[in-house]
Amino acid sequence: MKKTPIIQCTITASLLAIGLNSATATDLYQEMGITKPEQEAIMSAINSAREISKRAEQYNGLPYRRDAHAKATGCARATFSINPDIPERFKAGMFADADKQYLAWIRFSNGDMLVQADSKGDARGMAVKVMGVPGKAIAPELGETHNQDFIMTNTPAFFNRNIFDYADDMLYLAKFERTKWFISFFPPRLHPKQFYRAIQTVSSVIDTPLNAQYFSMLPYRLGKSTIKFSTKPCSGMSFPNKVDKSNPDYLSKQLETQLANGGACFEFMLQEKVPGHYMPVDDATAIWSEKASPFITVATINIPPQYLYSDQQQQFCENISMNPWRAVEGWEPLSSLNKARRVVYQAVSKYRHSQNKVPTPEPSSWCINENGEACDENQGLIVSKPTWPLPRCFDQNAKSIDGETLASDCKQQAY
Ligand code: HEM
Repeated sequence: MKKTPIIQCTITASLLAIGLNSATATDLYQEMGITKPEQEAIMSAINSAREISKRAEQYNGLPYRRDAHAKATGCARATFSINPDIPERFKAGMFADADKQYLAWIRFSNGDMLVQADSKGDARGMAVKVMGVPGKAIAPELGETHNQDFIMTNTPAFFNRNIFDYADDMLYLAKFERTKWFISFFPPRLHPKQFYRAIQTVSSVIDTPLNAQYFSMLPYRLGKSTIKFSTKPCSGMSFPNKVDKSNPDYLSKQLETQLANGGACFEFMLQEKVPGHYMPVDDATAIWSEKASPFITVATINIPPQYLYSDQQQQFCENISMNPWRAVEGWEPLSSLNKARRVVYQAVSKYRHSQNKVPTPEPSSWCINENGEACDENQGLIVSKPTWPLPRCFDQNAKSIDGETLASDCKQQAY
């Protein structure tokens, strides 16, 4: 790909400033077929992200946080199990082996760049890191970690169509002018659909991160299928009817109480792009019709009863990084926004870690001992006998004090 010297120079300078090897990024751009206007939009997005991170630090205090989804509501240990009846066409990449179970971490978060009260309307994030996945990494610059990340929020569509919308919008966000790109009188501007999606995004208030549906919003390729993915709570879980939202961290409190008293479970689902319907790949404001193509459950995420908030675990939760490109072959993030995320997530993660002078942990198990010492296999888990109701199918991983696995007959039961 040929570039004019001035553009090349600006891009290289920006890449060096964010600590990303410019040769690596230029190779990536070529490999992914990223056009020159897309490259400029990506660089602009990275610069805005750094600006947001810097400005947000004045409000949030140290450490430097993610420029999006700055507040974690908790990080939990989980398992990710491919269902025995996964349809043949989805058996690719990490979904190739039916009935296979992986260990995972989940980071639940609020979407805003500022750390604010949980009762404020906001997007809610669920980022799942599945570990020990066999196969070659699709993005070698992230390392052969054998991990695969699934990153979702609780709205089915995004408030920008593509990388150009995103880069423009970020210029205003970096100045904390949250609505100006969507609607403004001077200069006159209106992006009606994007504005509507943004309002939907920031209107969401939830009772607990365990009782929400989460969506990838962007499409991916799995084997030969083009899909979006989503998680929804398994049936059979019960949640409190009334939640006191006066505590600014009530979502963490809910997580803590609920996981101290029992497990939780999510169905992991895929929605396939089918011909003859409006299911665009590069317009993230479009919701794919569930009537034309319903979500199909292909895996189950179990969260065993556990303690969440040791200092060490909080630190780990702040420092891990999620990236939609951390995945093994058979999987490919699609769309211009997803292409941009390959560079932007890494750049922003590197920036905050270098500002905070901390390493980036990339876990391979549930163990979070910093110095690499072995952990008790039950680290953080609550190994006790739950009292009600038994068997609870979503508590499959709970271990009783006498060592037996609880609810072992659940596999035969439908969720
Ligand atoms: C449209 C689909 C998207 C979804 C579902 C999504 C969701 C999320 C979530 C849940 C997180 C928090 C991850 C964690 O817990 O560590 C996150 C972080 C982040 N997102 Fe997105 N996002 C989307 C699009 C984008 C786009 C298009 C960009 C920029 C091109 C972007 C930039 C970022 C960055 C820079 C972070 C912080 C990464 C880090 O420092 O570790 N996101 N996103």
